[in-house]
Amino acid sequence: PAPGWSIDADVVVVGSGVAGLTAALRCTAAGLRTVVVTKARLDDGSTRWAQGGIAAALGEGDTPEQHLDDTLVAGAGLCDEEAVRLLVTEGPDAVRRLIATGARFDTDDTGTIELTREGGHHRRRIAHAGGDATGAEISRALVDAVRDRAVRTIENALVLDLLTDAAGRTAGVTLHVMGEGQHDGVGAVHAPAVVLATGGMGQVFSATTNPAVSTGDGVALALRAGAEVSDLEFVQFHPTVLFLGPDAEGQQPLVSEAVRGEGAHLVDADGVRFMVGQHELAELAPRDIVAKGIMRRMREQGARHMYLDARHFGAAMWESRFPTILAACRAHGIDPVTRPIPVAPAAHYASGGVRTDLYGRTTVPGLYACGEVACTGVHGANRLASNSLLEGLVFAERIADDIAASGARAGDPVPHPAPSVLPLLDPDARGRVQHVMTTGAGVLRSAASLAEAADALDAVYAEALHDGPGGNKAAEPGVESWETTNLLCVARVLVAAARRREETRGCHWREDRPDRDDTAWRRHLVVRLGPDRS
Ligand code: SIN
Repeated sequence: PAPGWSIDADVVVVGSGVAGLTAALRCTAAGLRTVVVTKARLDDGSTRWAQGGIAAALGEGDTPEQHLDDTLVAGAGLCDEEAVRLLVTEGPDAVRRLIATGARFDTDDTGTIELTREGGHHRRRIAHAGGDATGAEISRALVDAVRDRAVRTIENALVLDLLTDAAGRTAGVTLHVMGEGQHDGVGAVHAPAVVLATGGMGQVFSATTNPAVSTGDGVALALRAGAEVSDLEFVQFHPTVLFLGPDAEGQQPLVSEAVRGEGAHLVDADGVRFMVGQHELAELAPRDIVAKGIMRRMREQGARHMYLDARHFGAAMWESRFPTILAACRAHGIDPVTRPIPVAPAAHYASGGVRTDLYGRTTVPGLYACGEVACTGVHGANRLASNSLLEGLVFAERIADDIAASGARAGDPVPHPAPSVLPLLDPDARGRVQHVMTTGAGVLRSAASLAEAADALDAVYAEALHDGPGGNKAAEPGVESWETTNLLCVARVLVAAARRREETRGCHWREDRPDRDDTAWRRHLVVRLGPDRS
């Protein structure tokens, strides 16, 4: 669609979680004219839902080297060690800068930051805020700072496509904006630098911890723009999501790993602690191992969920340490003070994404990515718990510094028309895509299940082609049809990658290929769409 309005900037940041707002604040501080565009309100992304916390070697006796070791083990042989080293060495100071920006972490009586444990960490290393409301506090602090510093923001702005100039360099983005006055309808922000910080794609599955806005928009944009995307098969399923029934759909309440970090036990219906003996860290093994342990036990017992037992915390600890989770459980009629919590895995985090170098640069000049949308190499095949907020912080700062140093300024590029994405999917297809993905490409995968998923997604696409322009029933352009189009795009690429990786590694679990194969598969799957974007 042709833009009806446009504005110029030095840099446009797409997304307003920890990564986007950190990048925007640092670009602004460097004197760059910065515009933040975000699909809903500034605090509507995934960051606000993060519970457990942010991992960094802040504690006495802890070192970046130990944090590096735990991250590499969780990543199951596919982390980029250099990227992890940057993450863990720059991380502690990045957290201190976040505190200076206004984020208030929980401290003990002496003012020392309290640290908890989560899966895969051999030490207490996770800083938290409000007990289990870490993301909400980080989001509050960053949104306040963006407002204080008068960073220009456009809310309710769904990003559509990348604009490029004649040389293929980034020249801005097109947007579909609703209800924002002078910037309503389809418009464009022209800028020589674009930072994608659009978050994840959990909504590609039926049940997820991700909010409704996590529809893979950034990965879909990057694919359409010809950027490389990597490791999409590595979708992390969080082991302990409140089980609300087999047909529960959309965003589900998370029960943080920090609850296990403070001593909760996973038990089956008979009260048996089934993770003991499966891994030296038992319930605190890396997340993929715990998710698999739960799924195996569910299958052996024909059960739909397992239980997390933290009755021994008592009411006072539940109320002070985990108030958000306590309230969510009670809102669903479960009192964790007196009953074990029913839990099952649900889609949680995309370990892969838009491929970047150590400065967040993608393979399209001027296009950057950070946060969950990016694949910087720090997560490998399975992200270590609470490394995501840290990654958002550290790489957003590196990106801002790179843009400032690059000298790119508004007015440099002359944009070409944005590519048009055809066909635009009818929003009715969304539920079908989610169902296909959960059934065929969920926690347990096989060649057969993935082949069925691929065929079903192809059928959804073929129908849309038939019904689209040239056919009878083109979907109305709008946020929901764009989101559904993006979901299908990322789902197809994810399934293609999962079919290709014929082994089990990290959070990619192939039942027909149960072993890790370091001879053939210690490598990444990188995807770049051709000029017809199919
Ligand atoms: C949690 O609190 O369990 C989530 C932490 C994370 O996803 O890193």
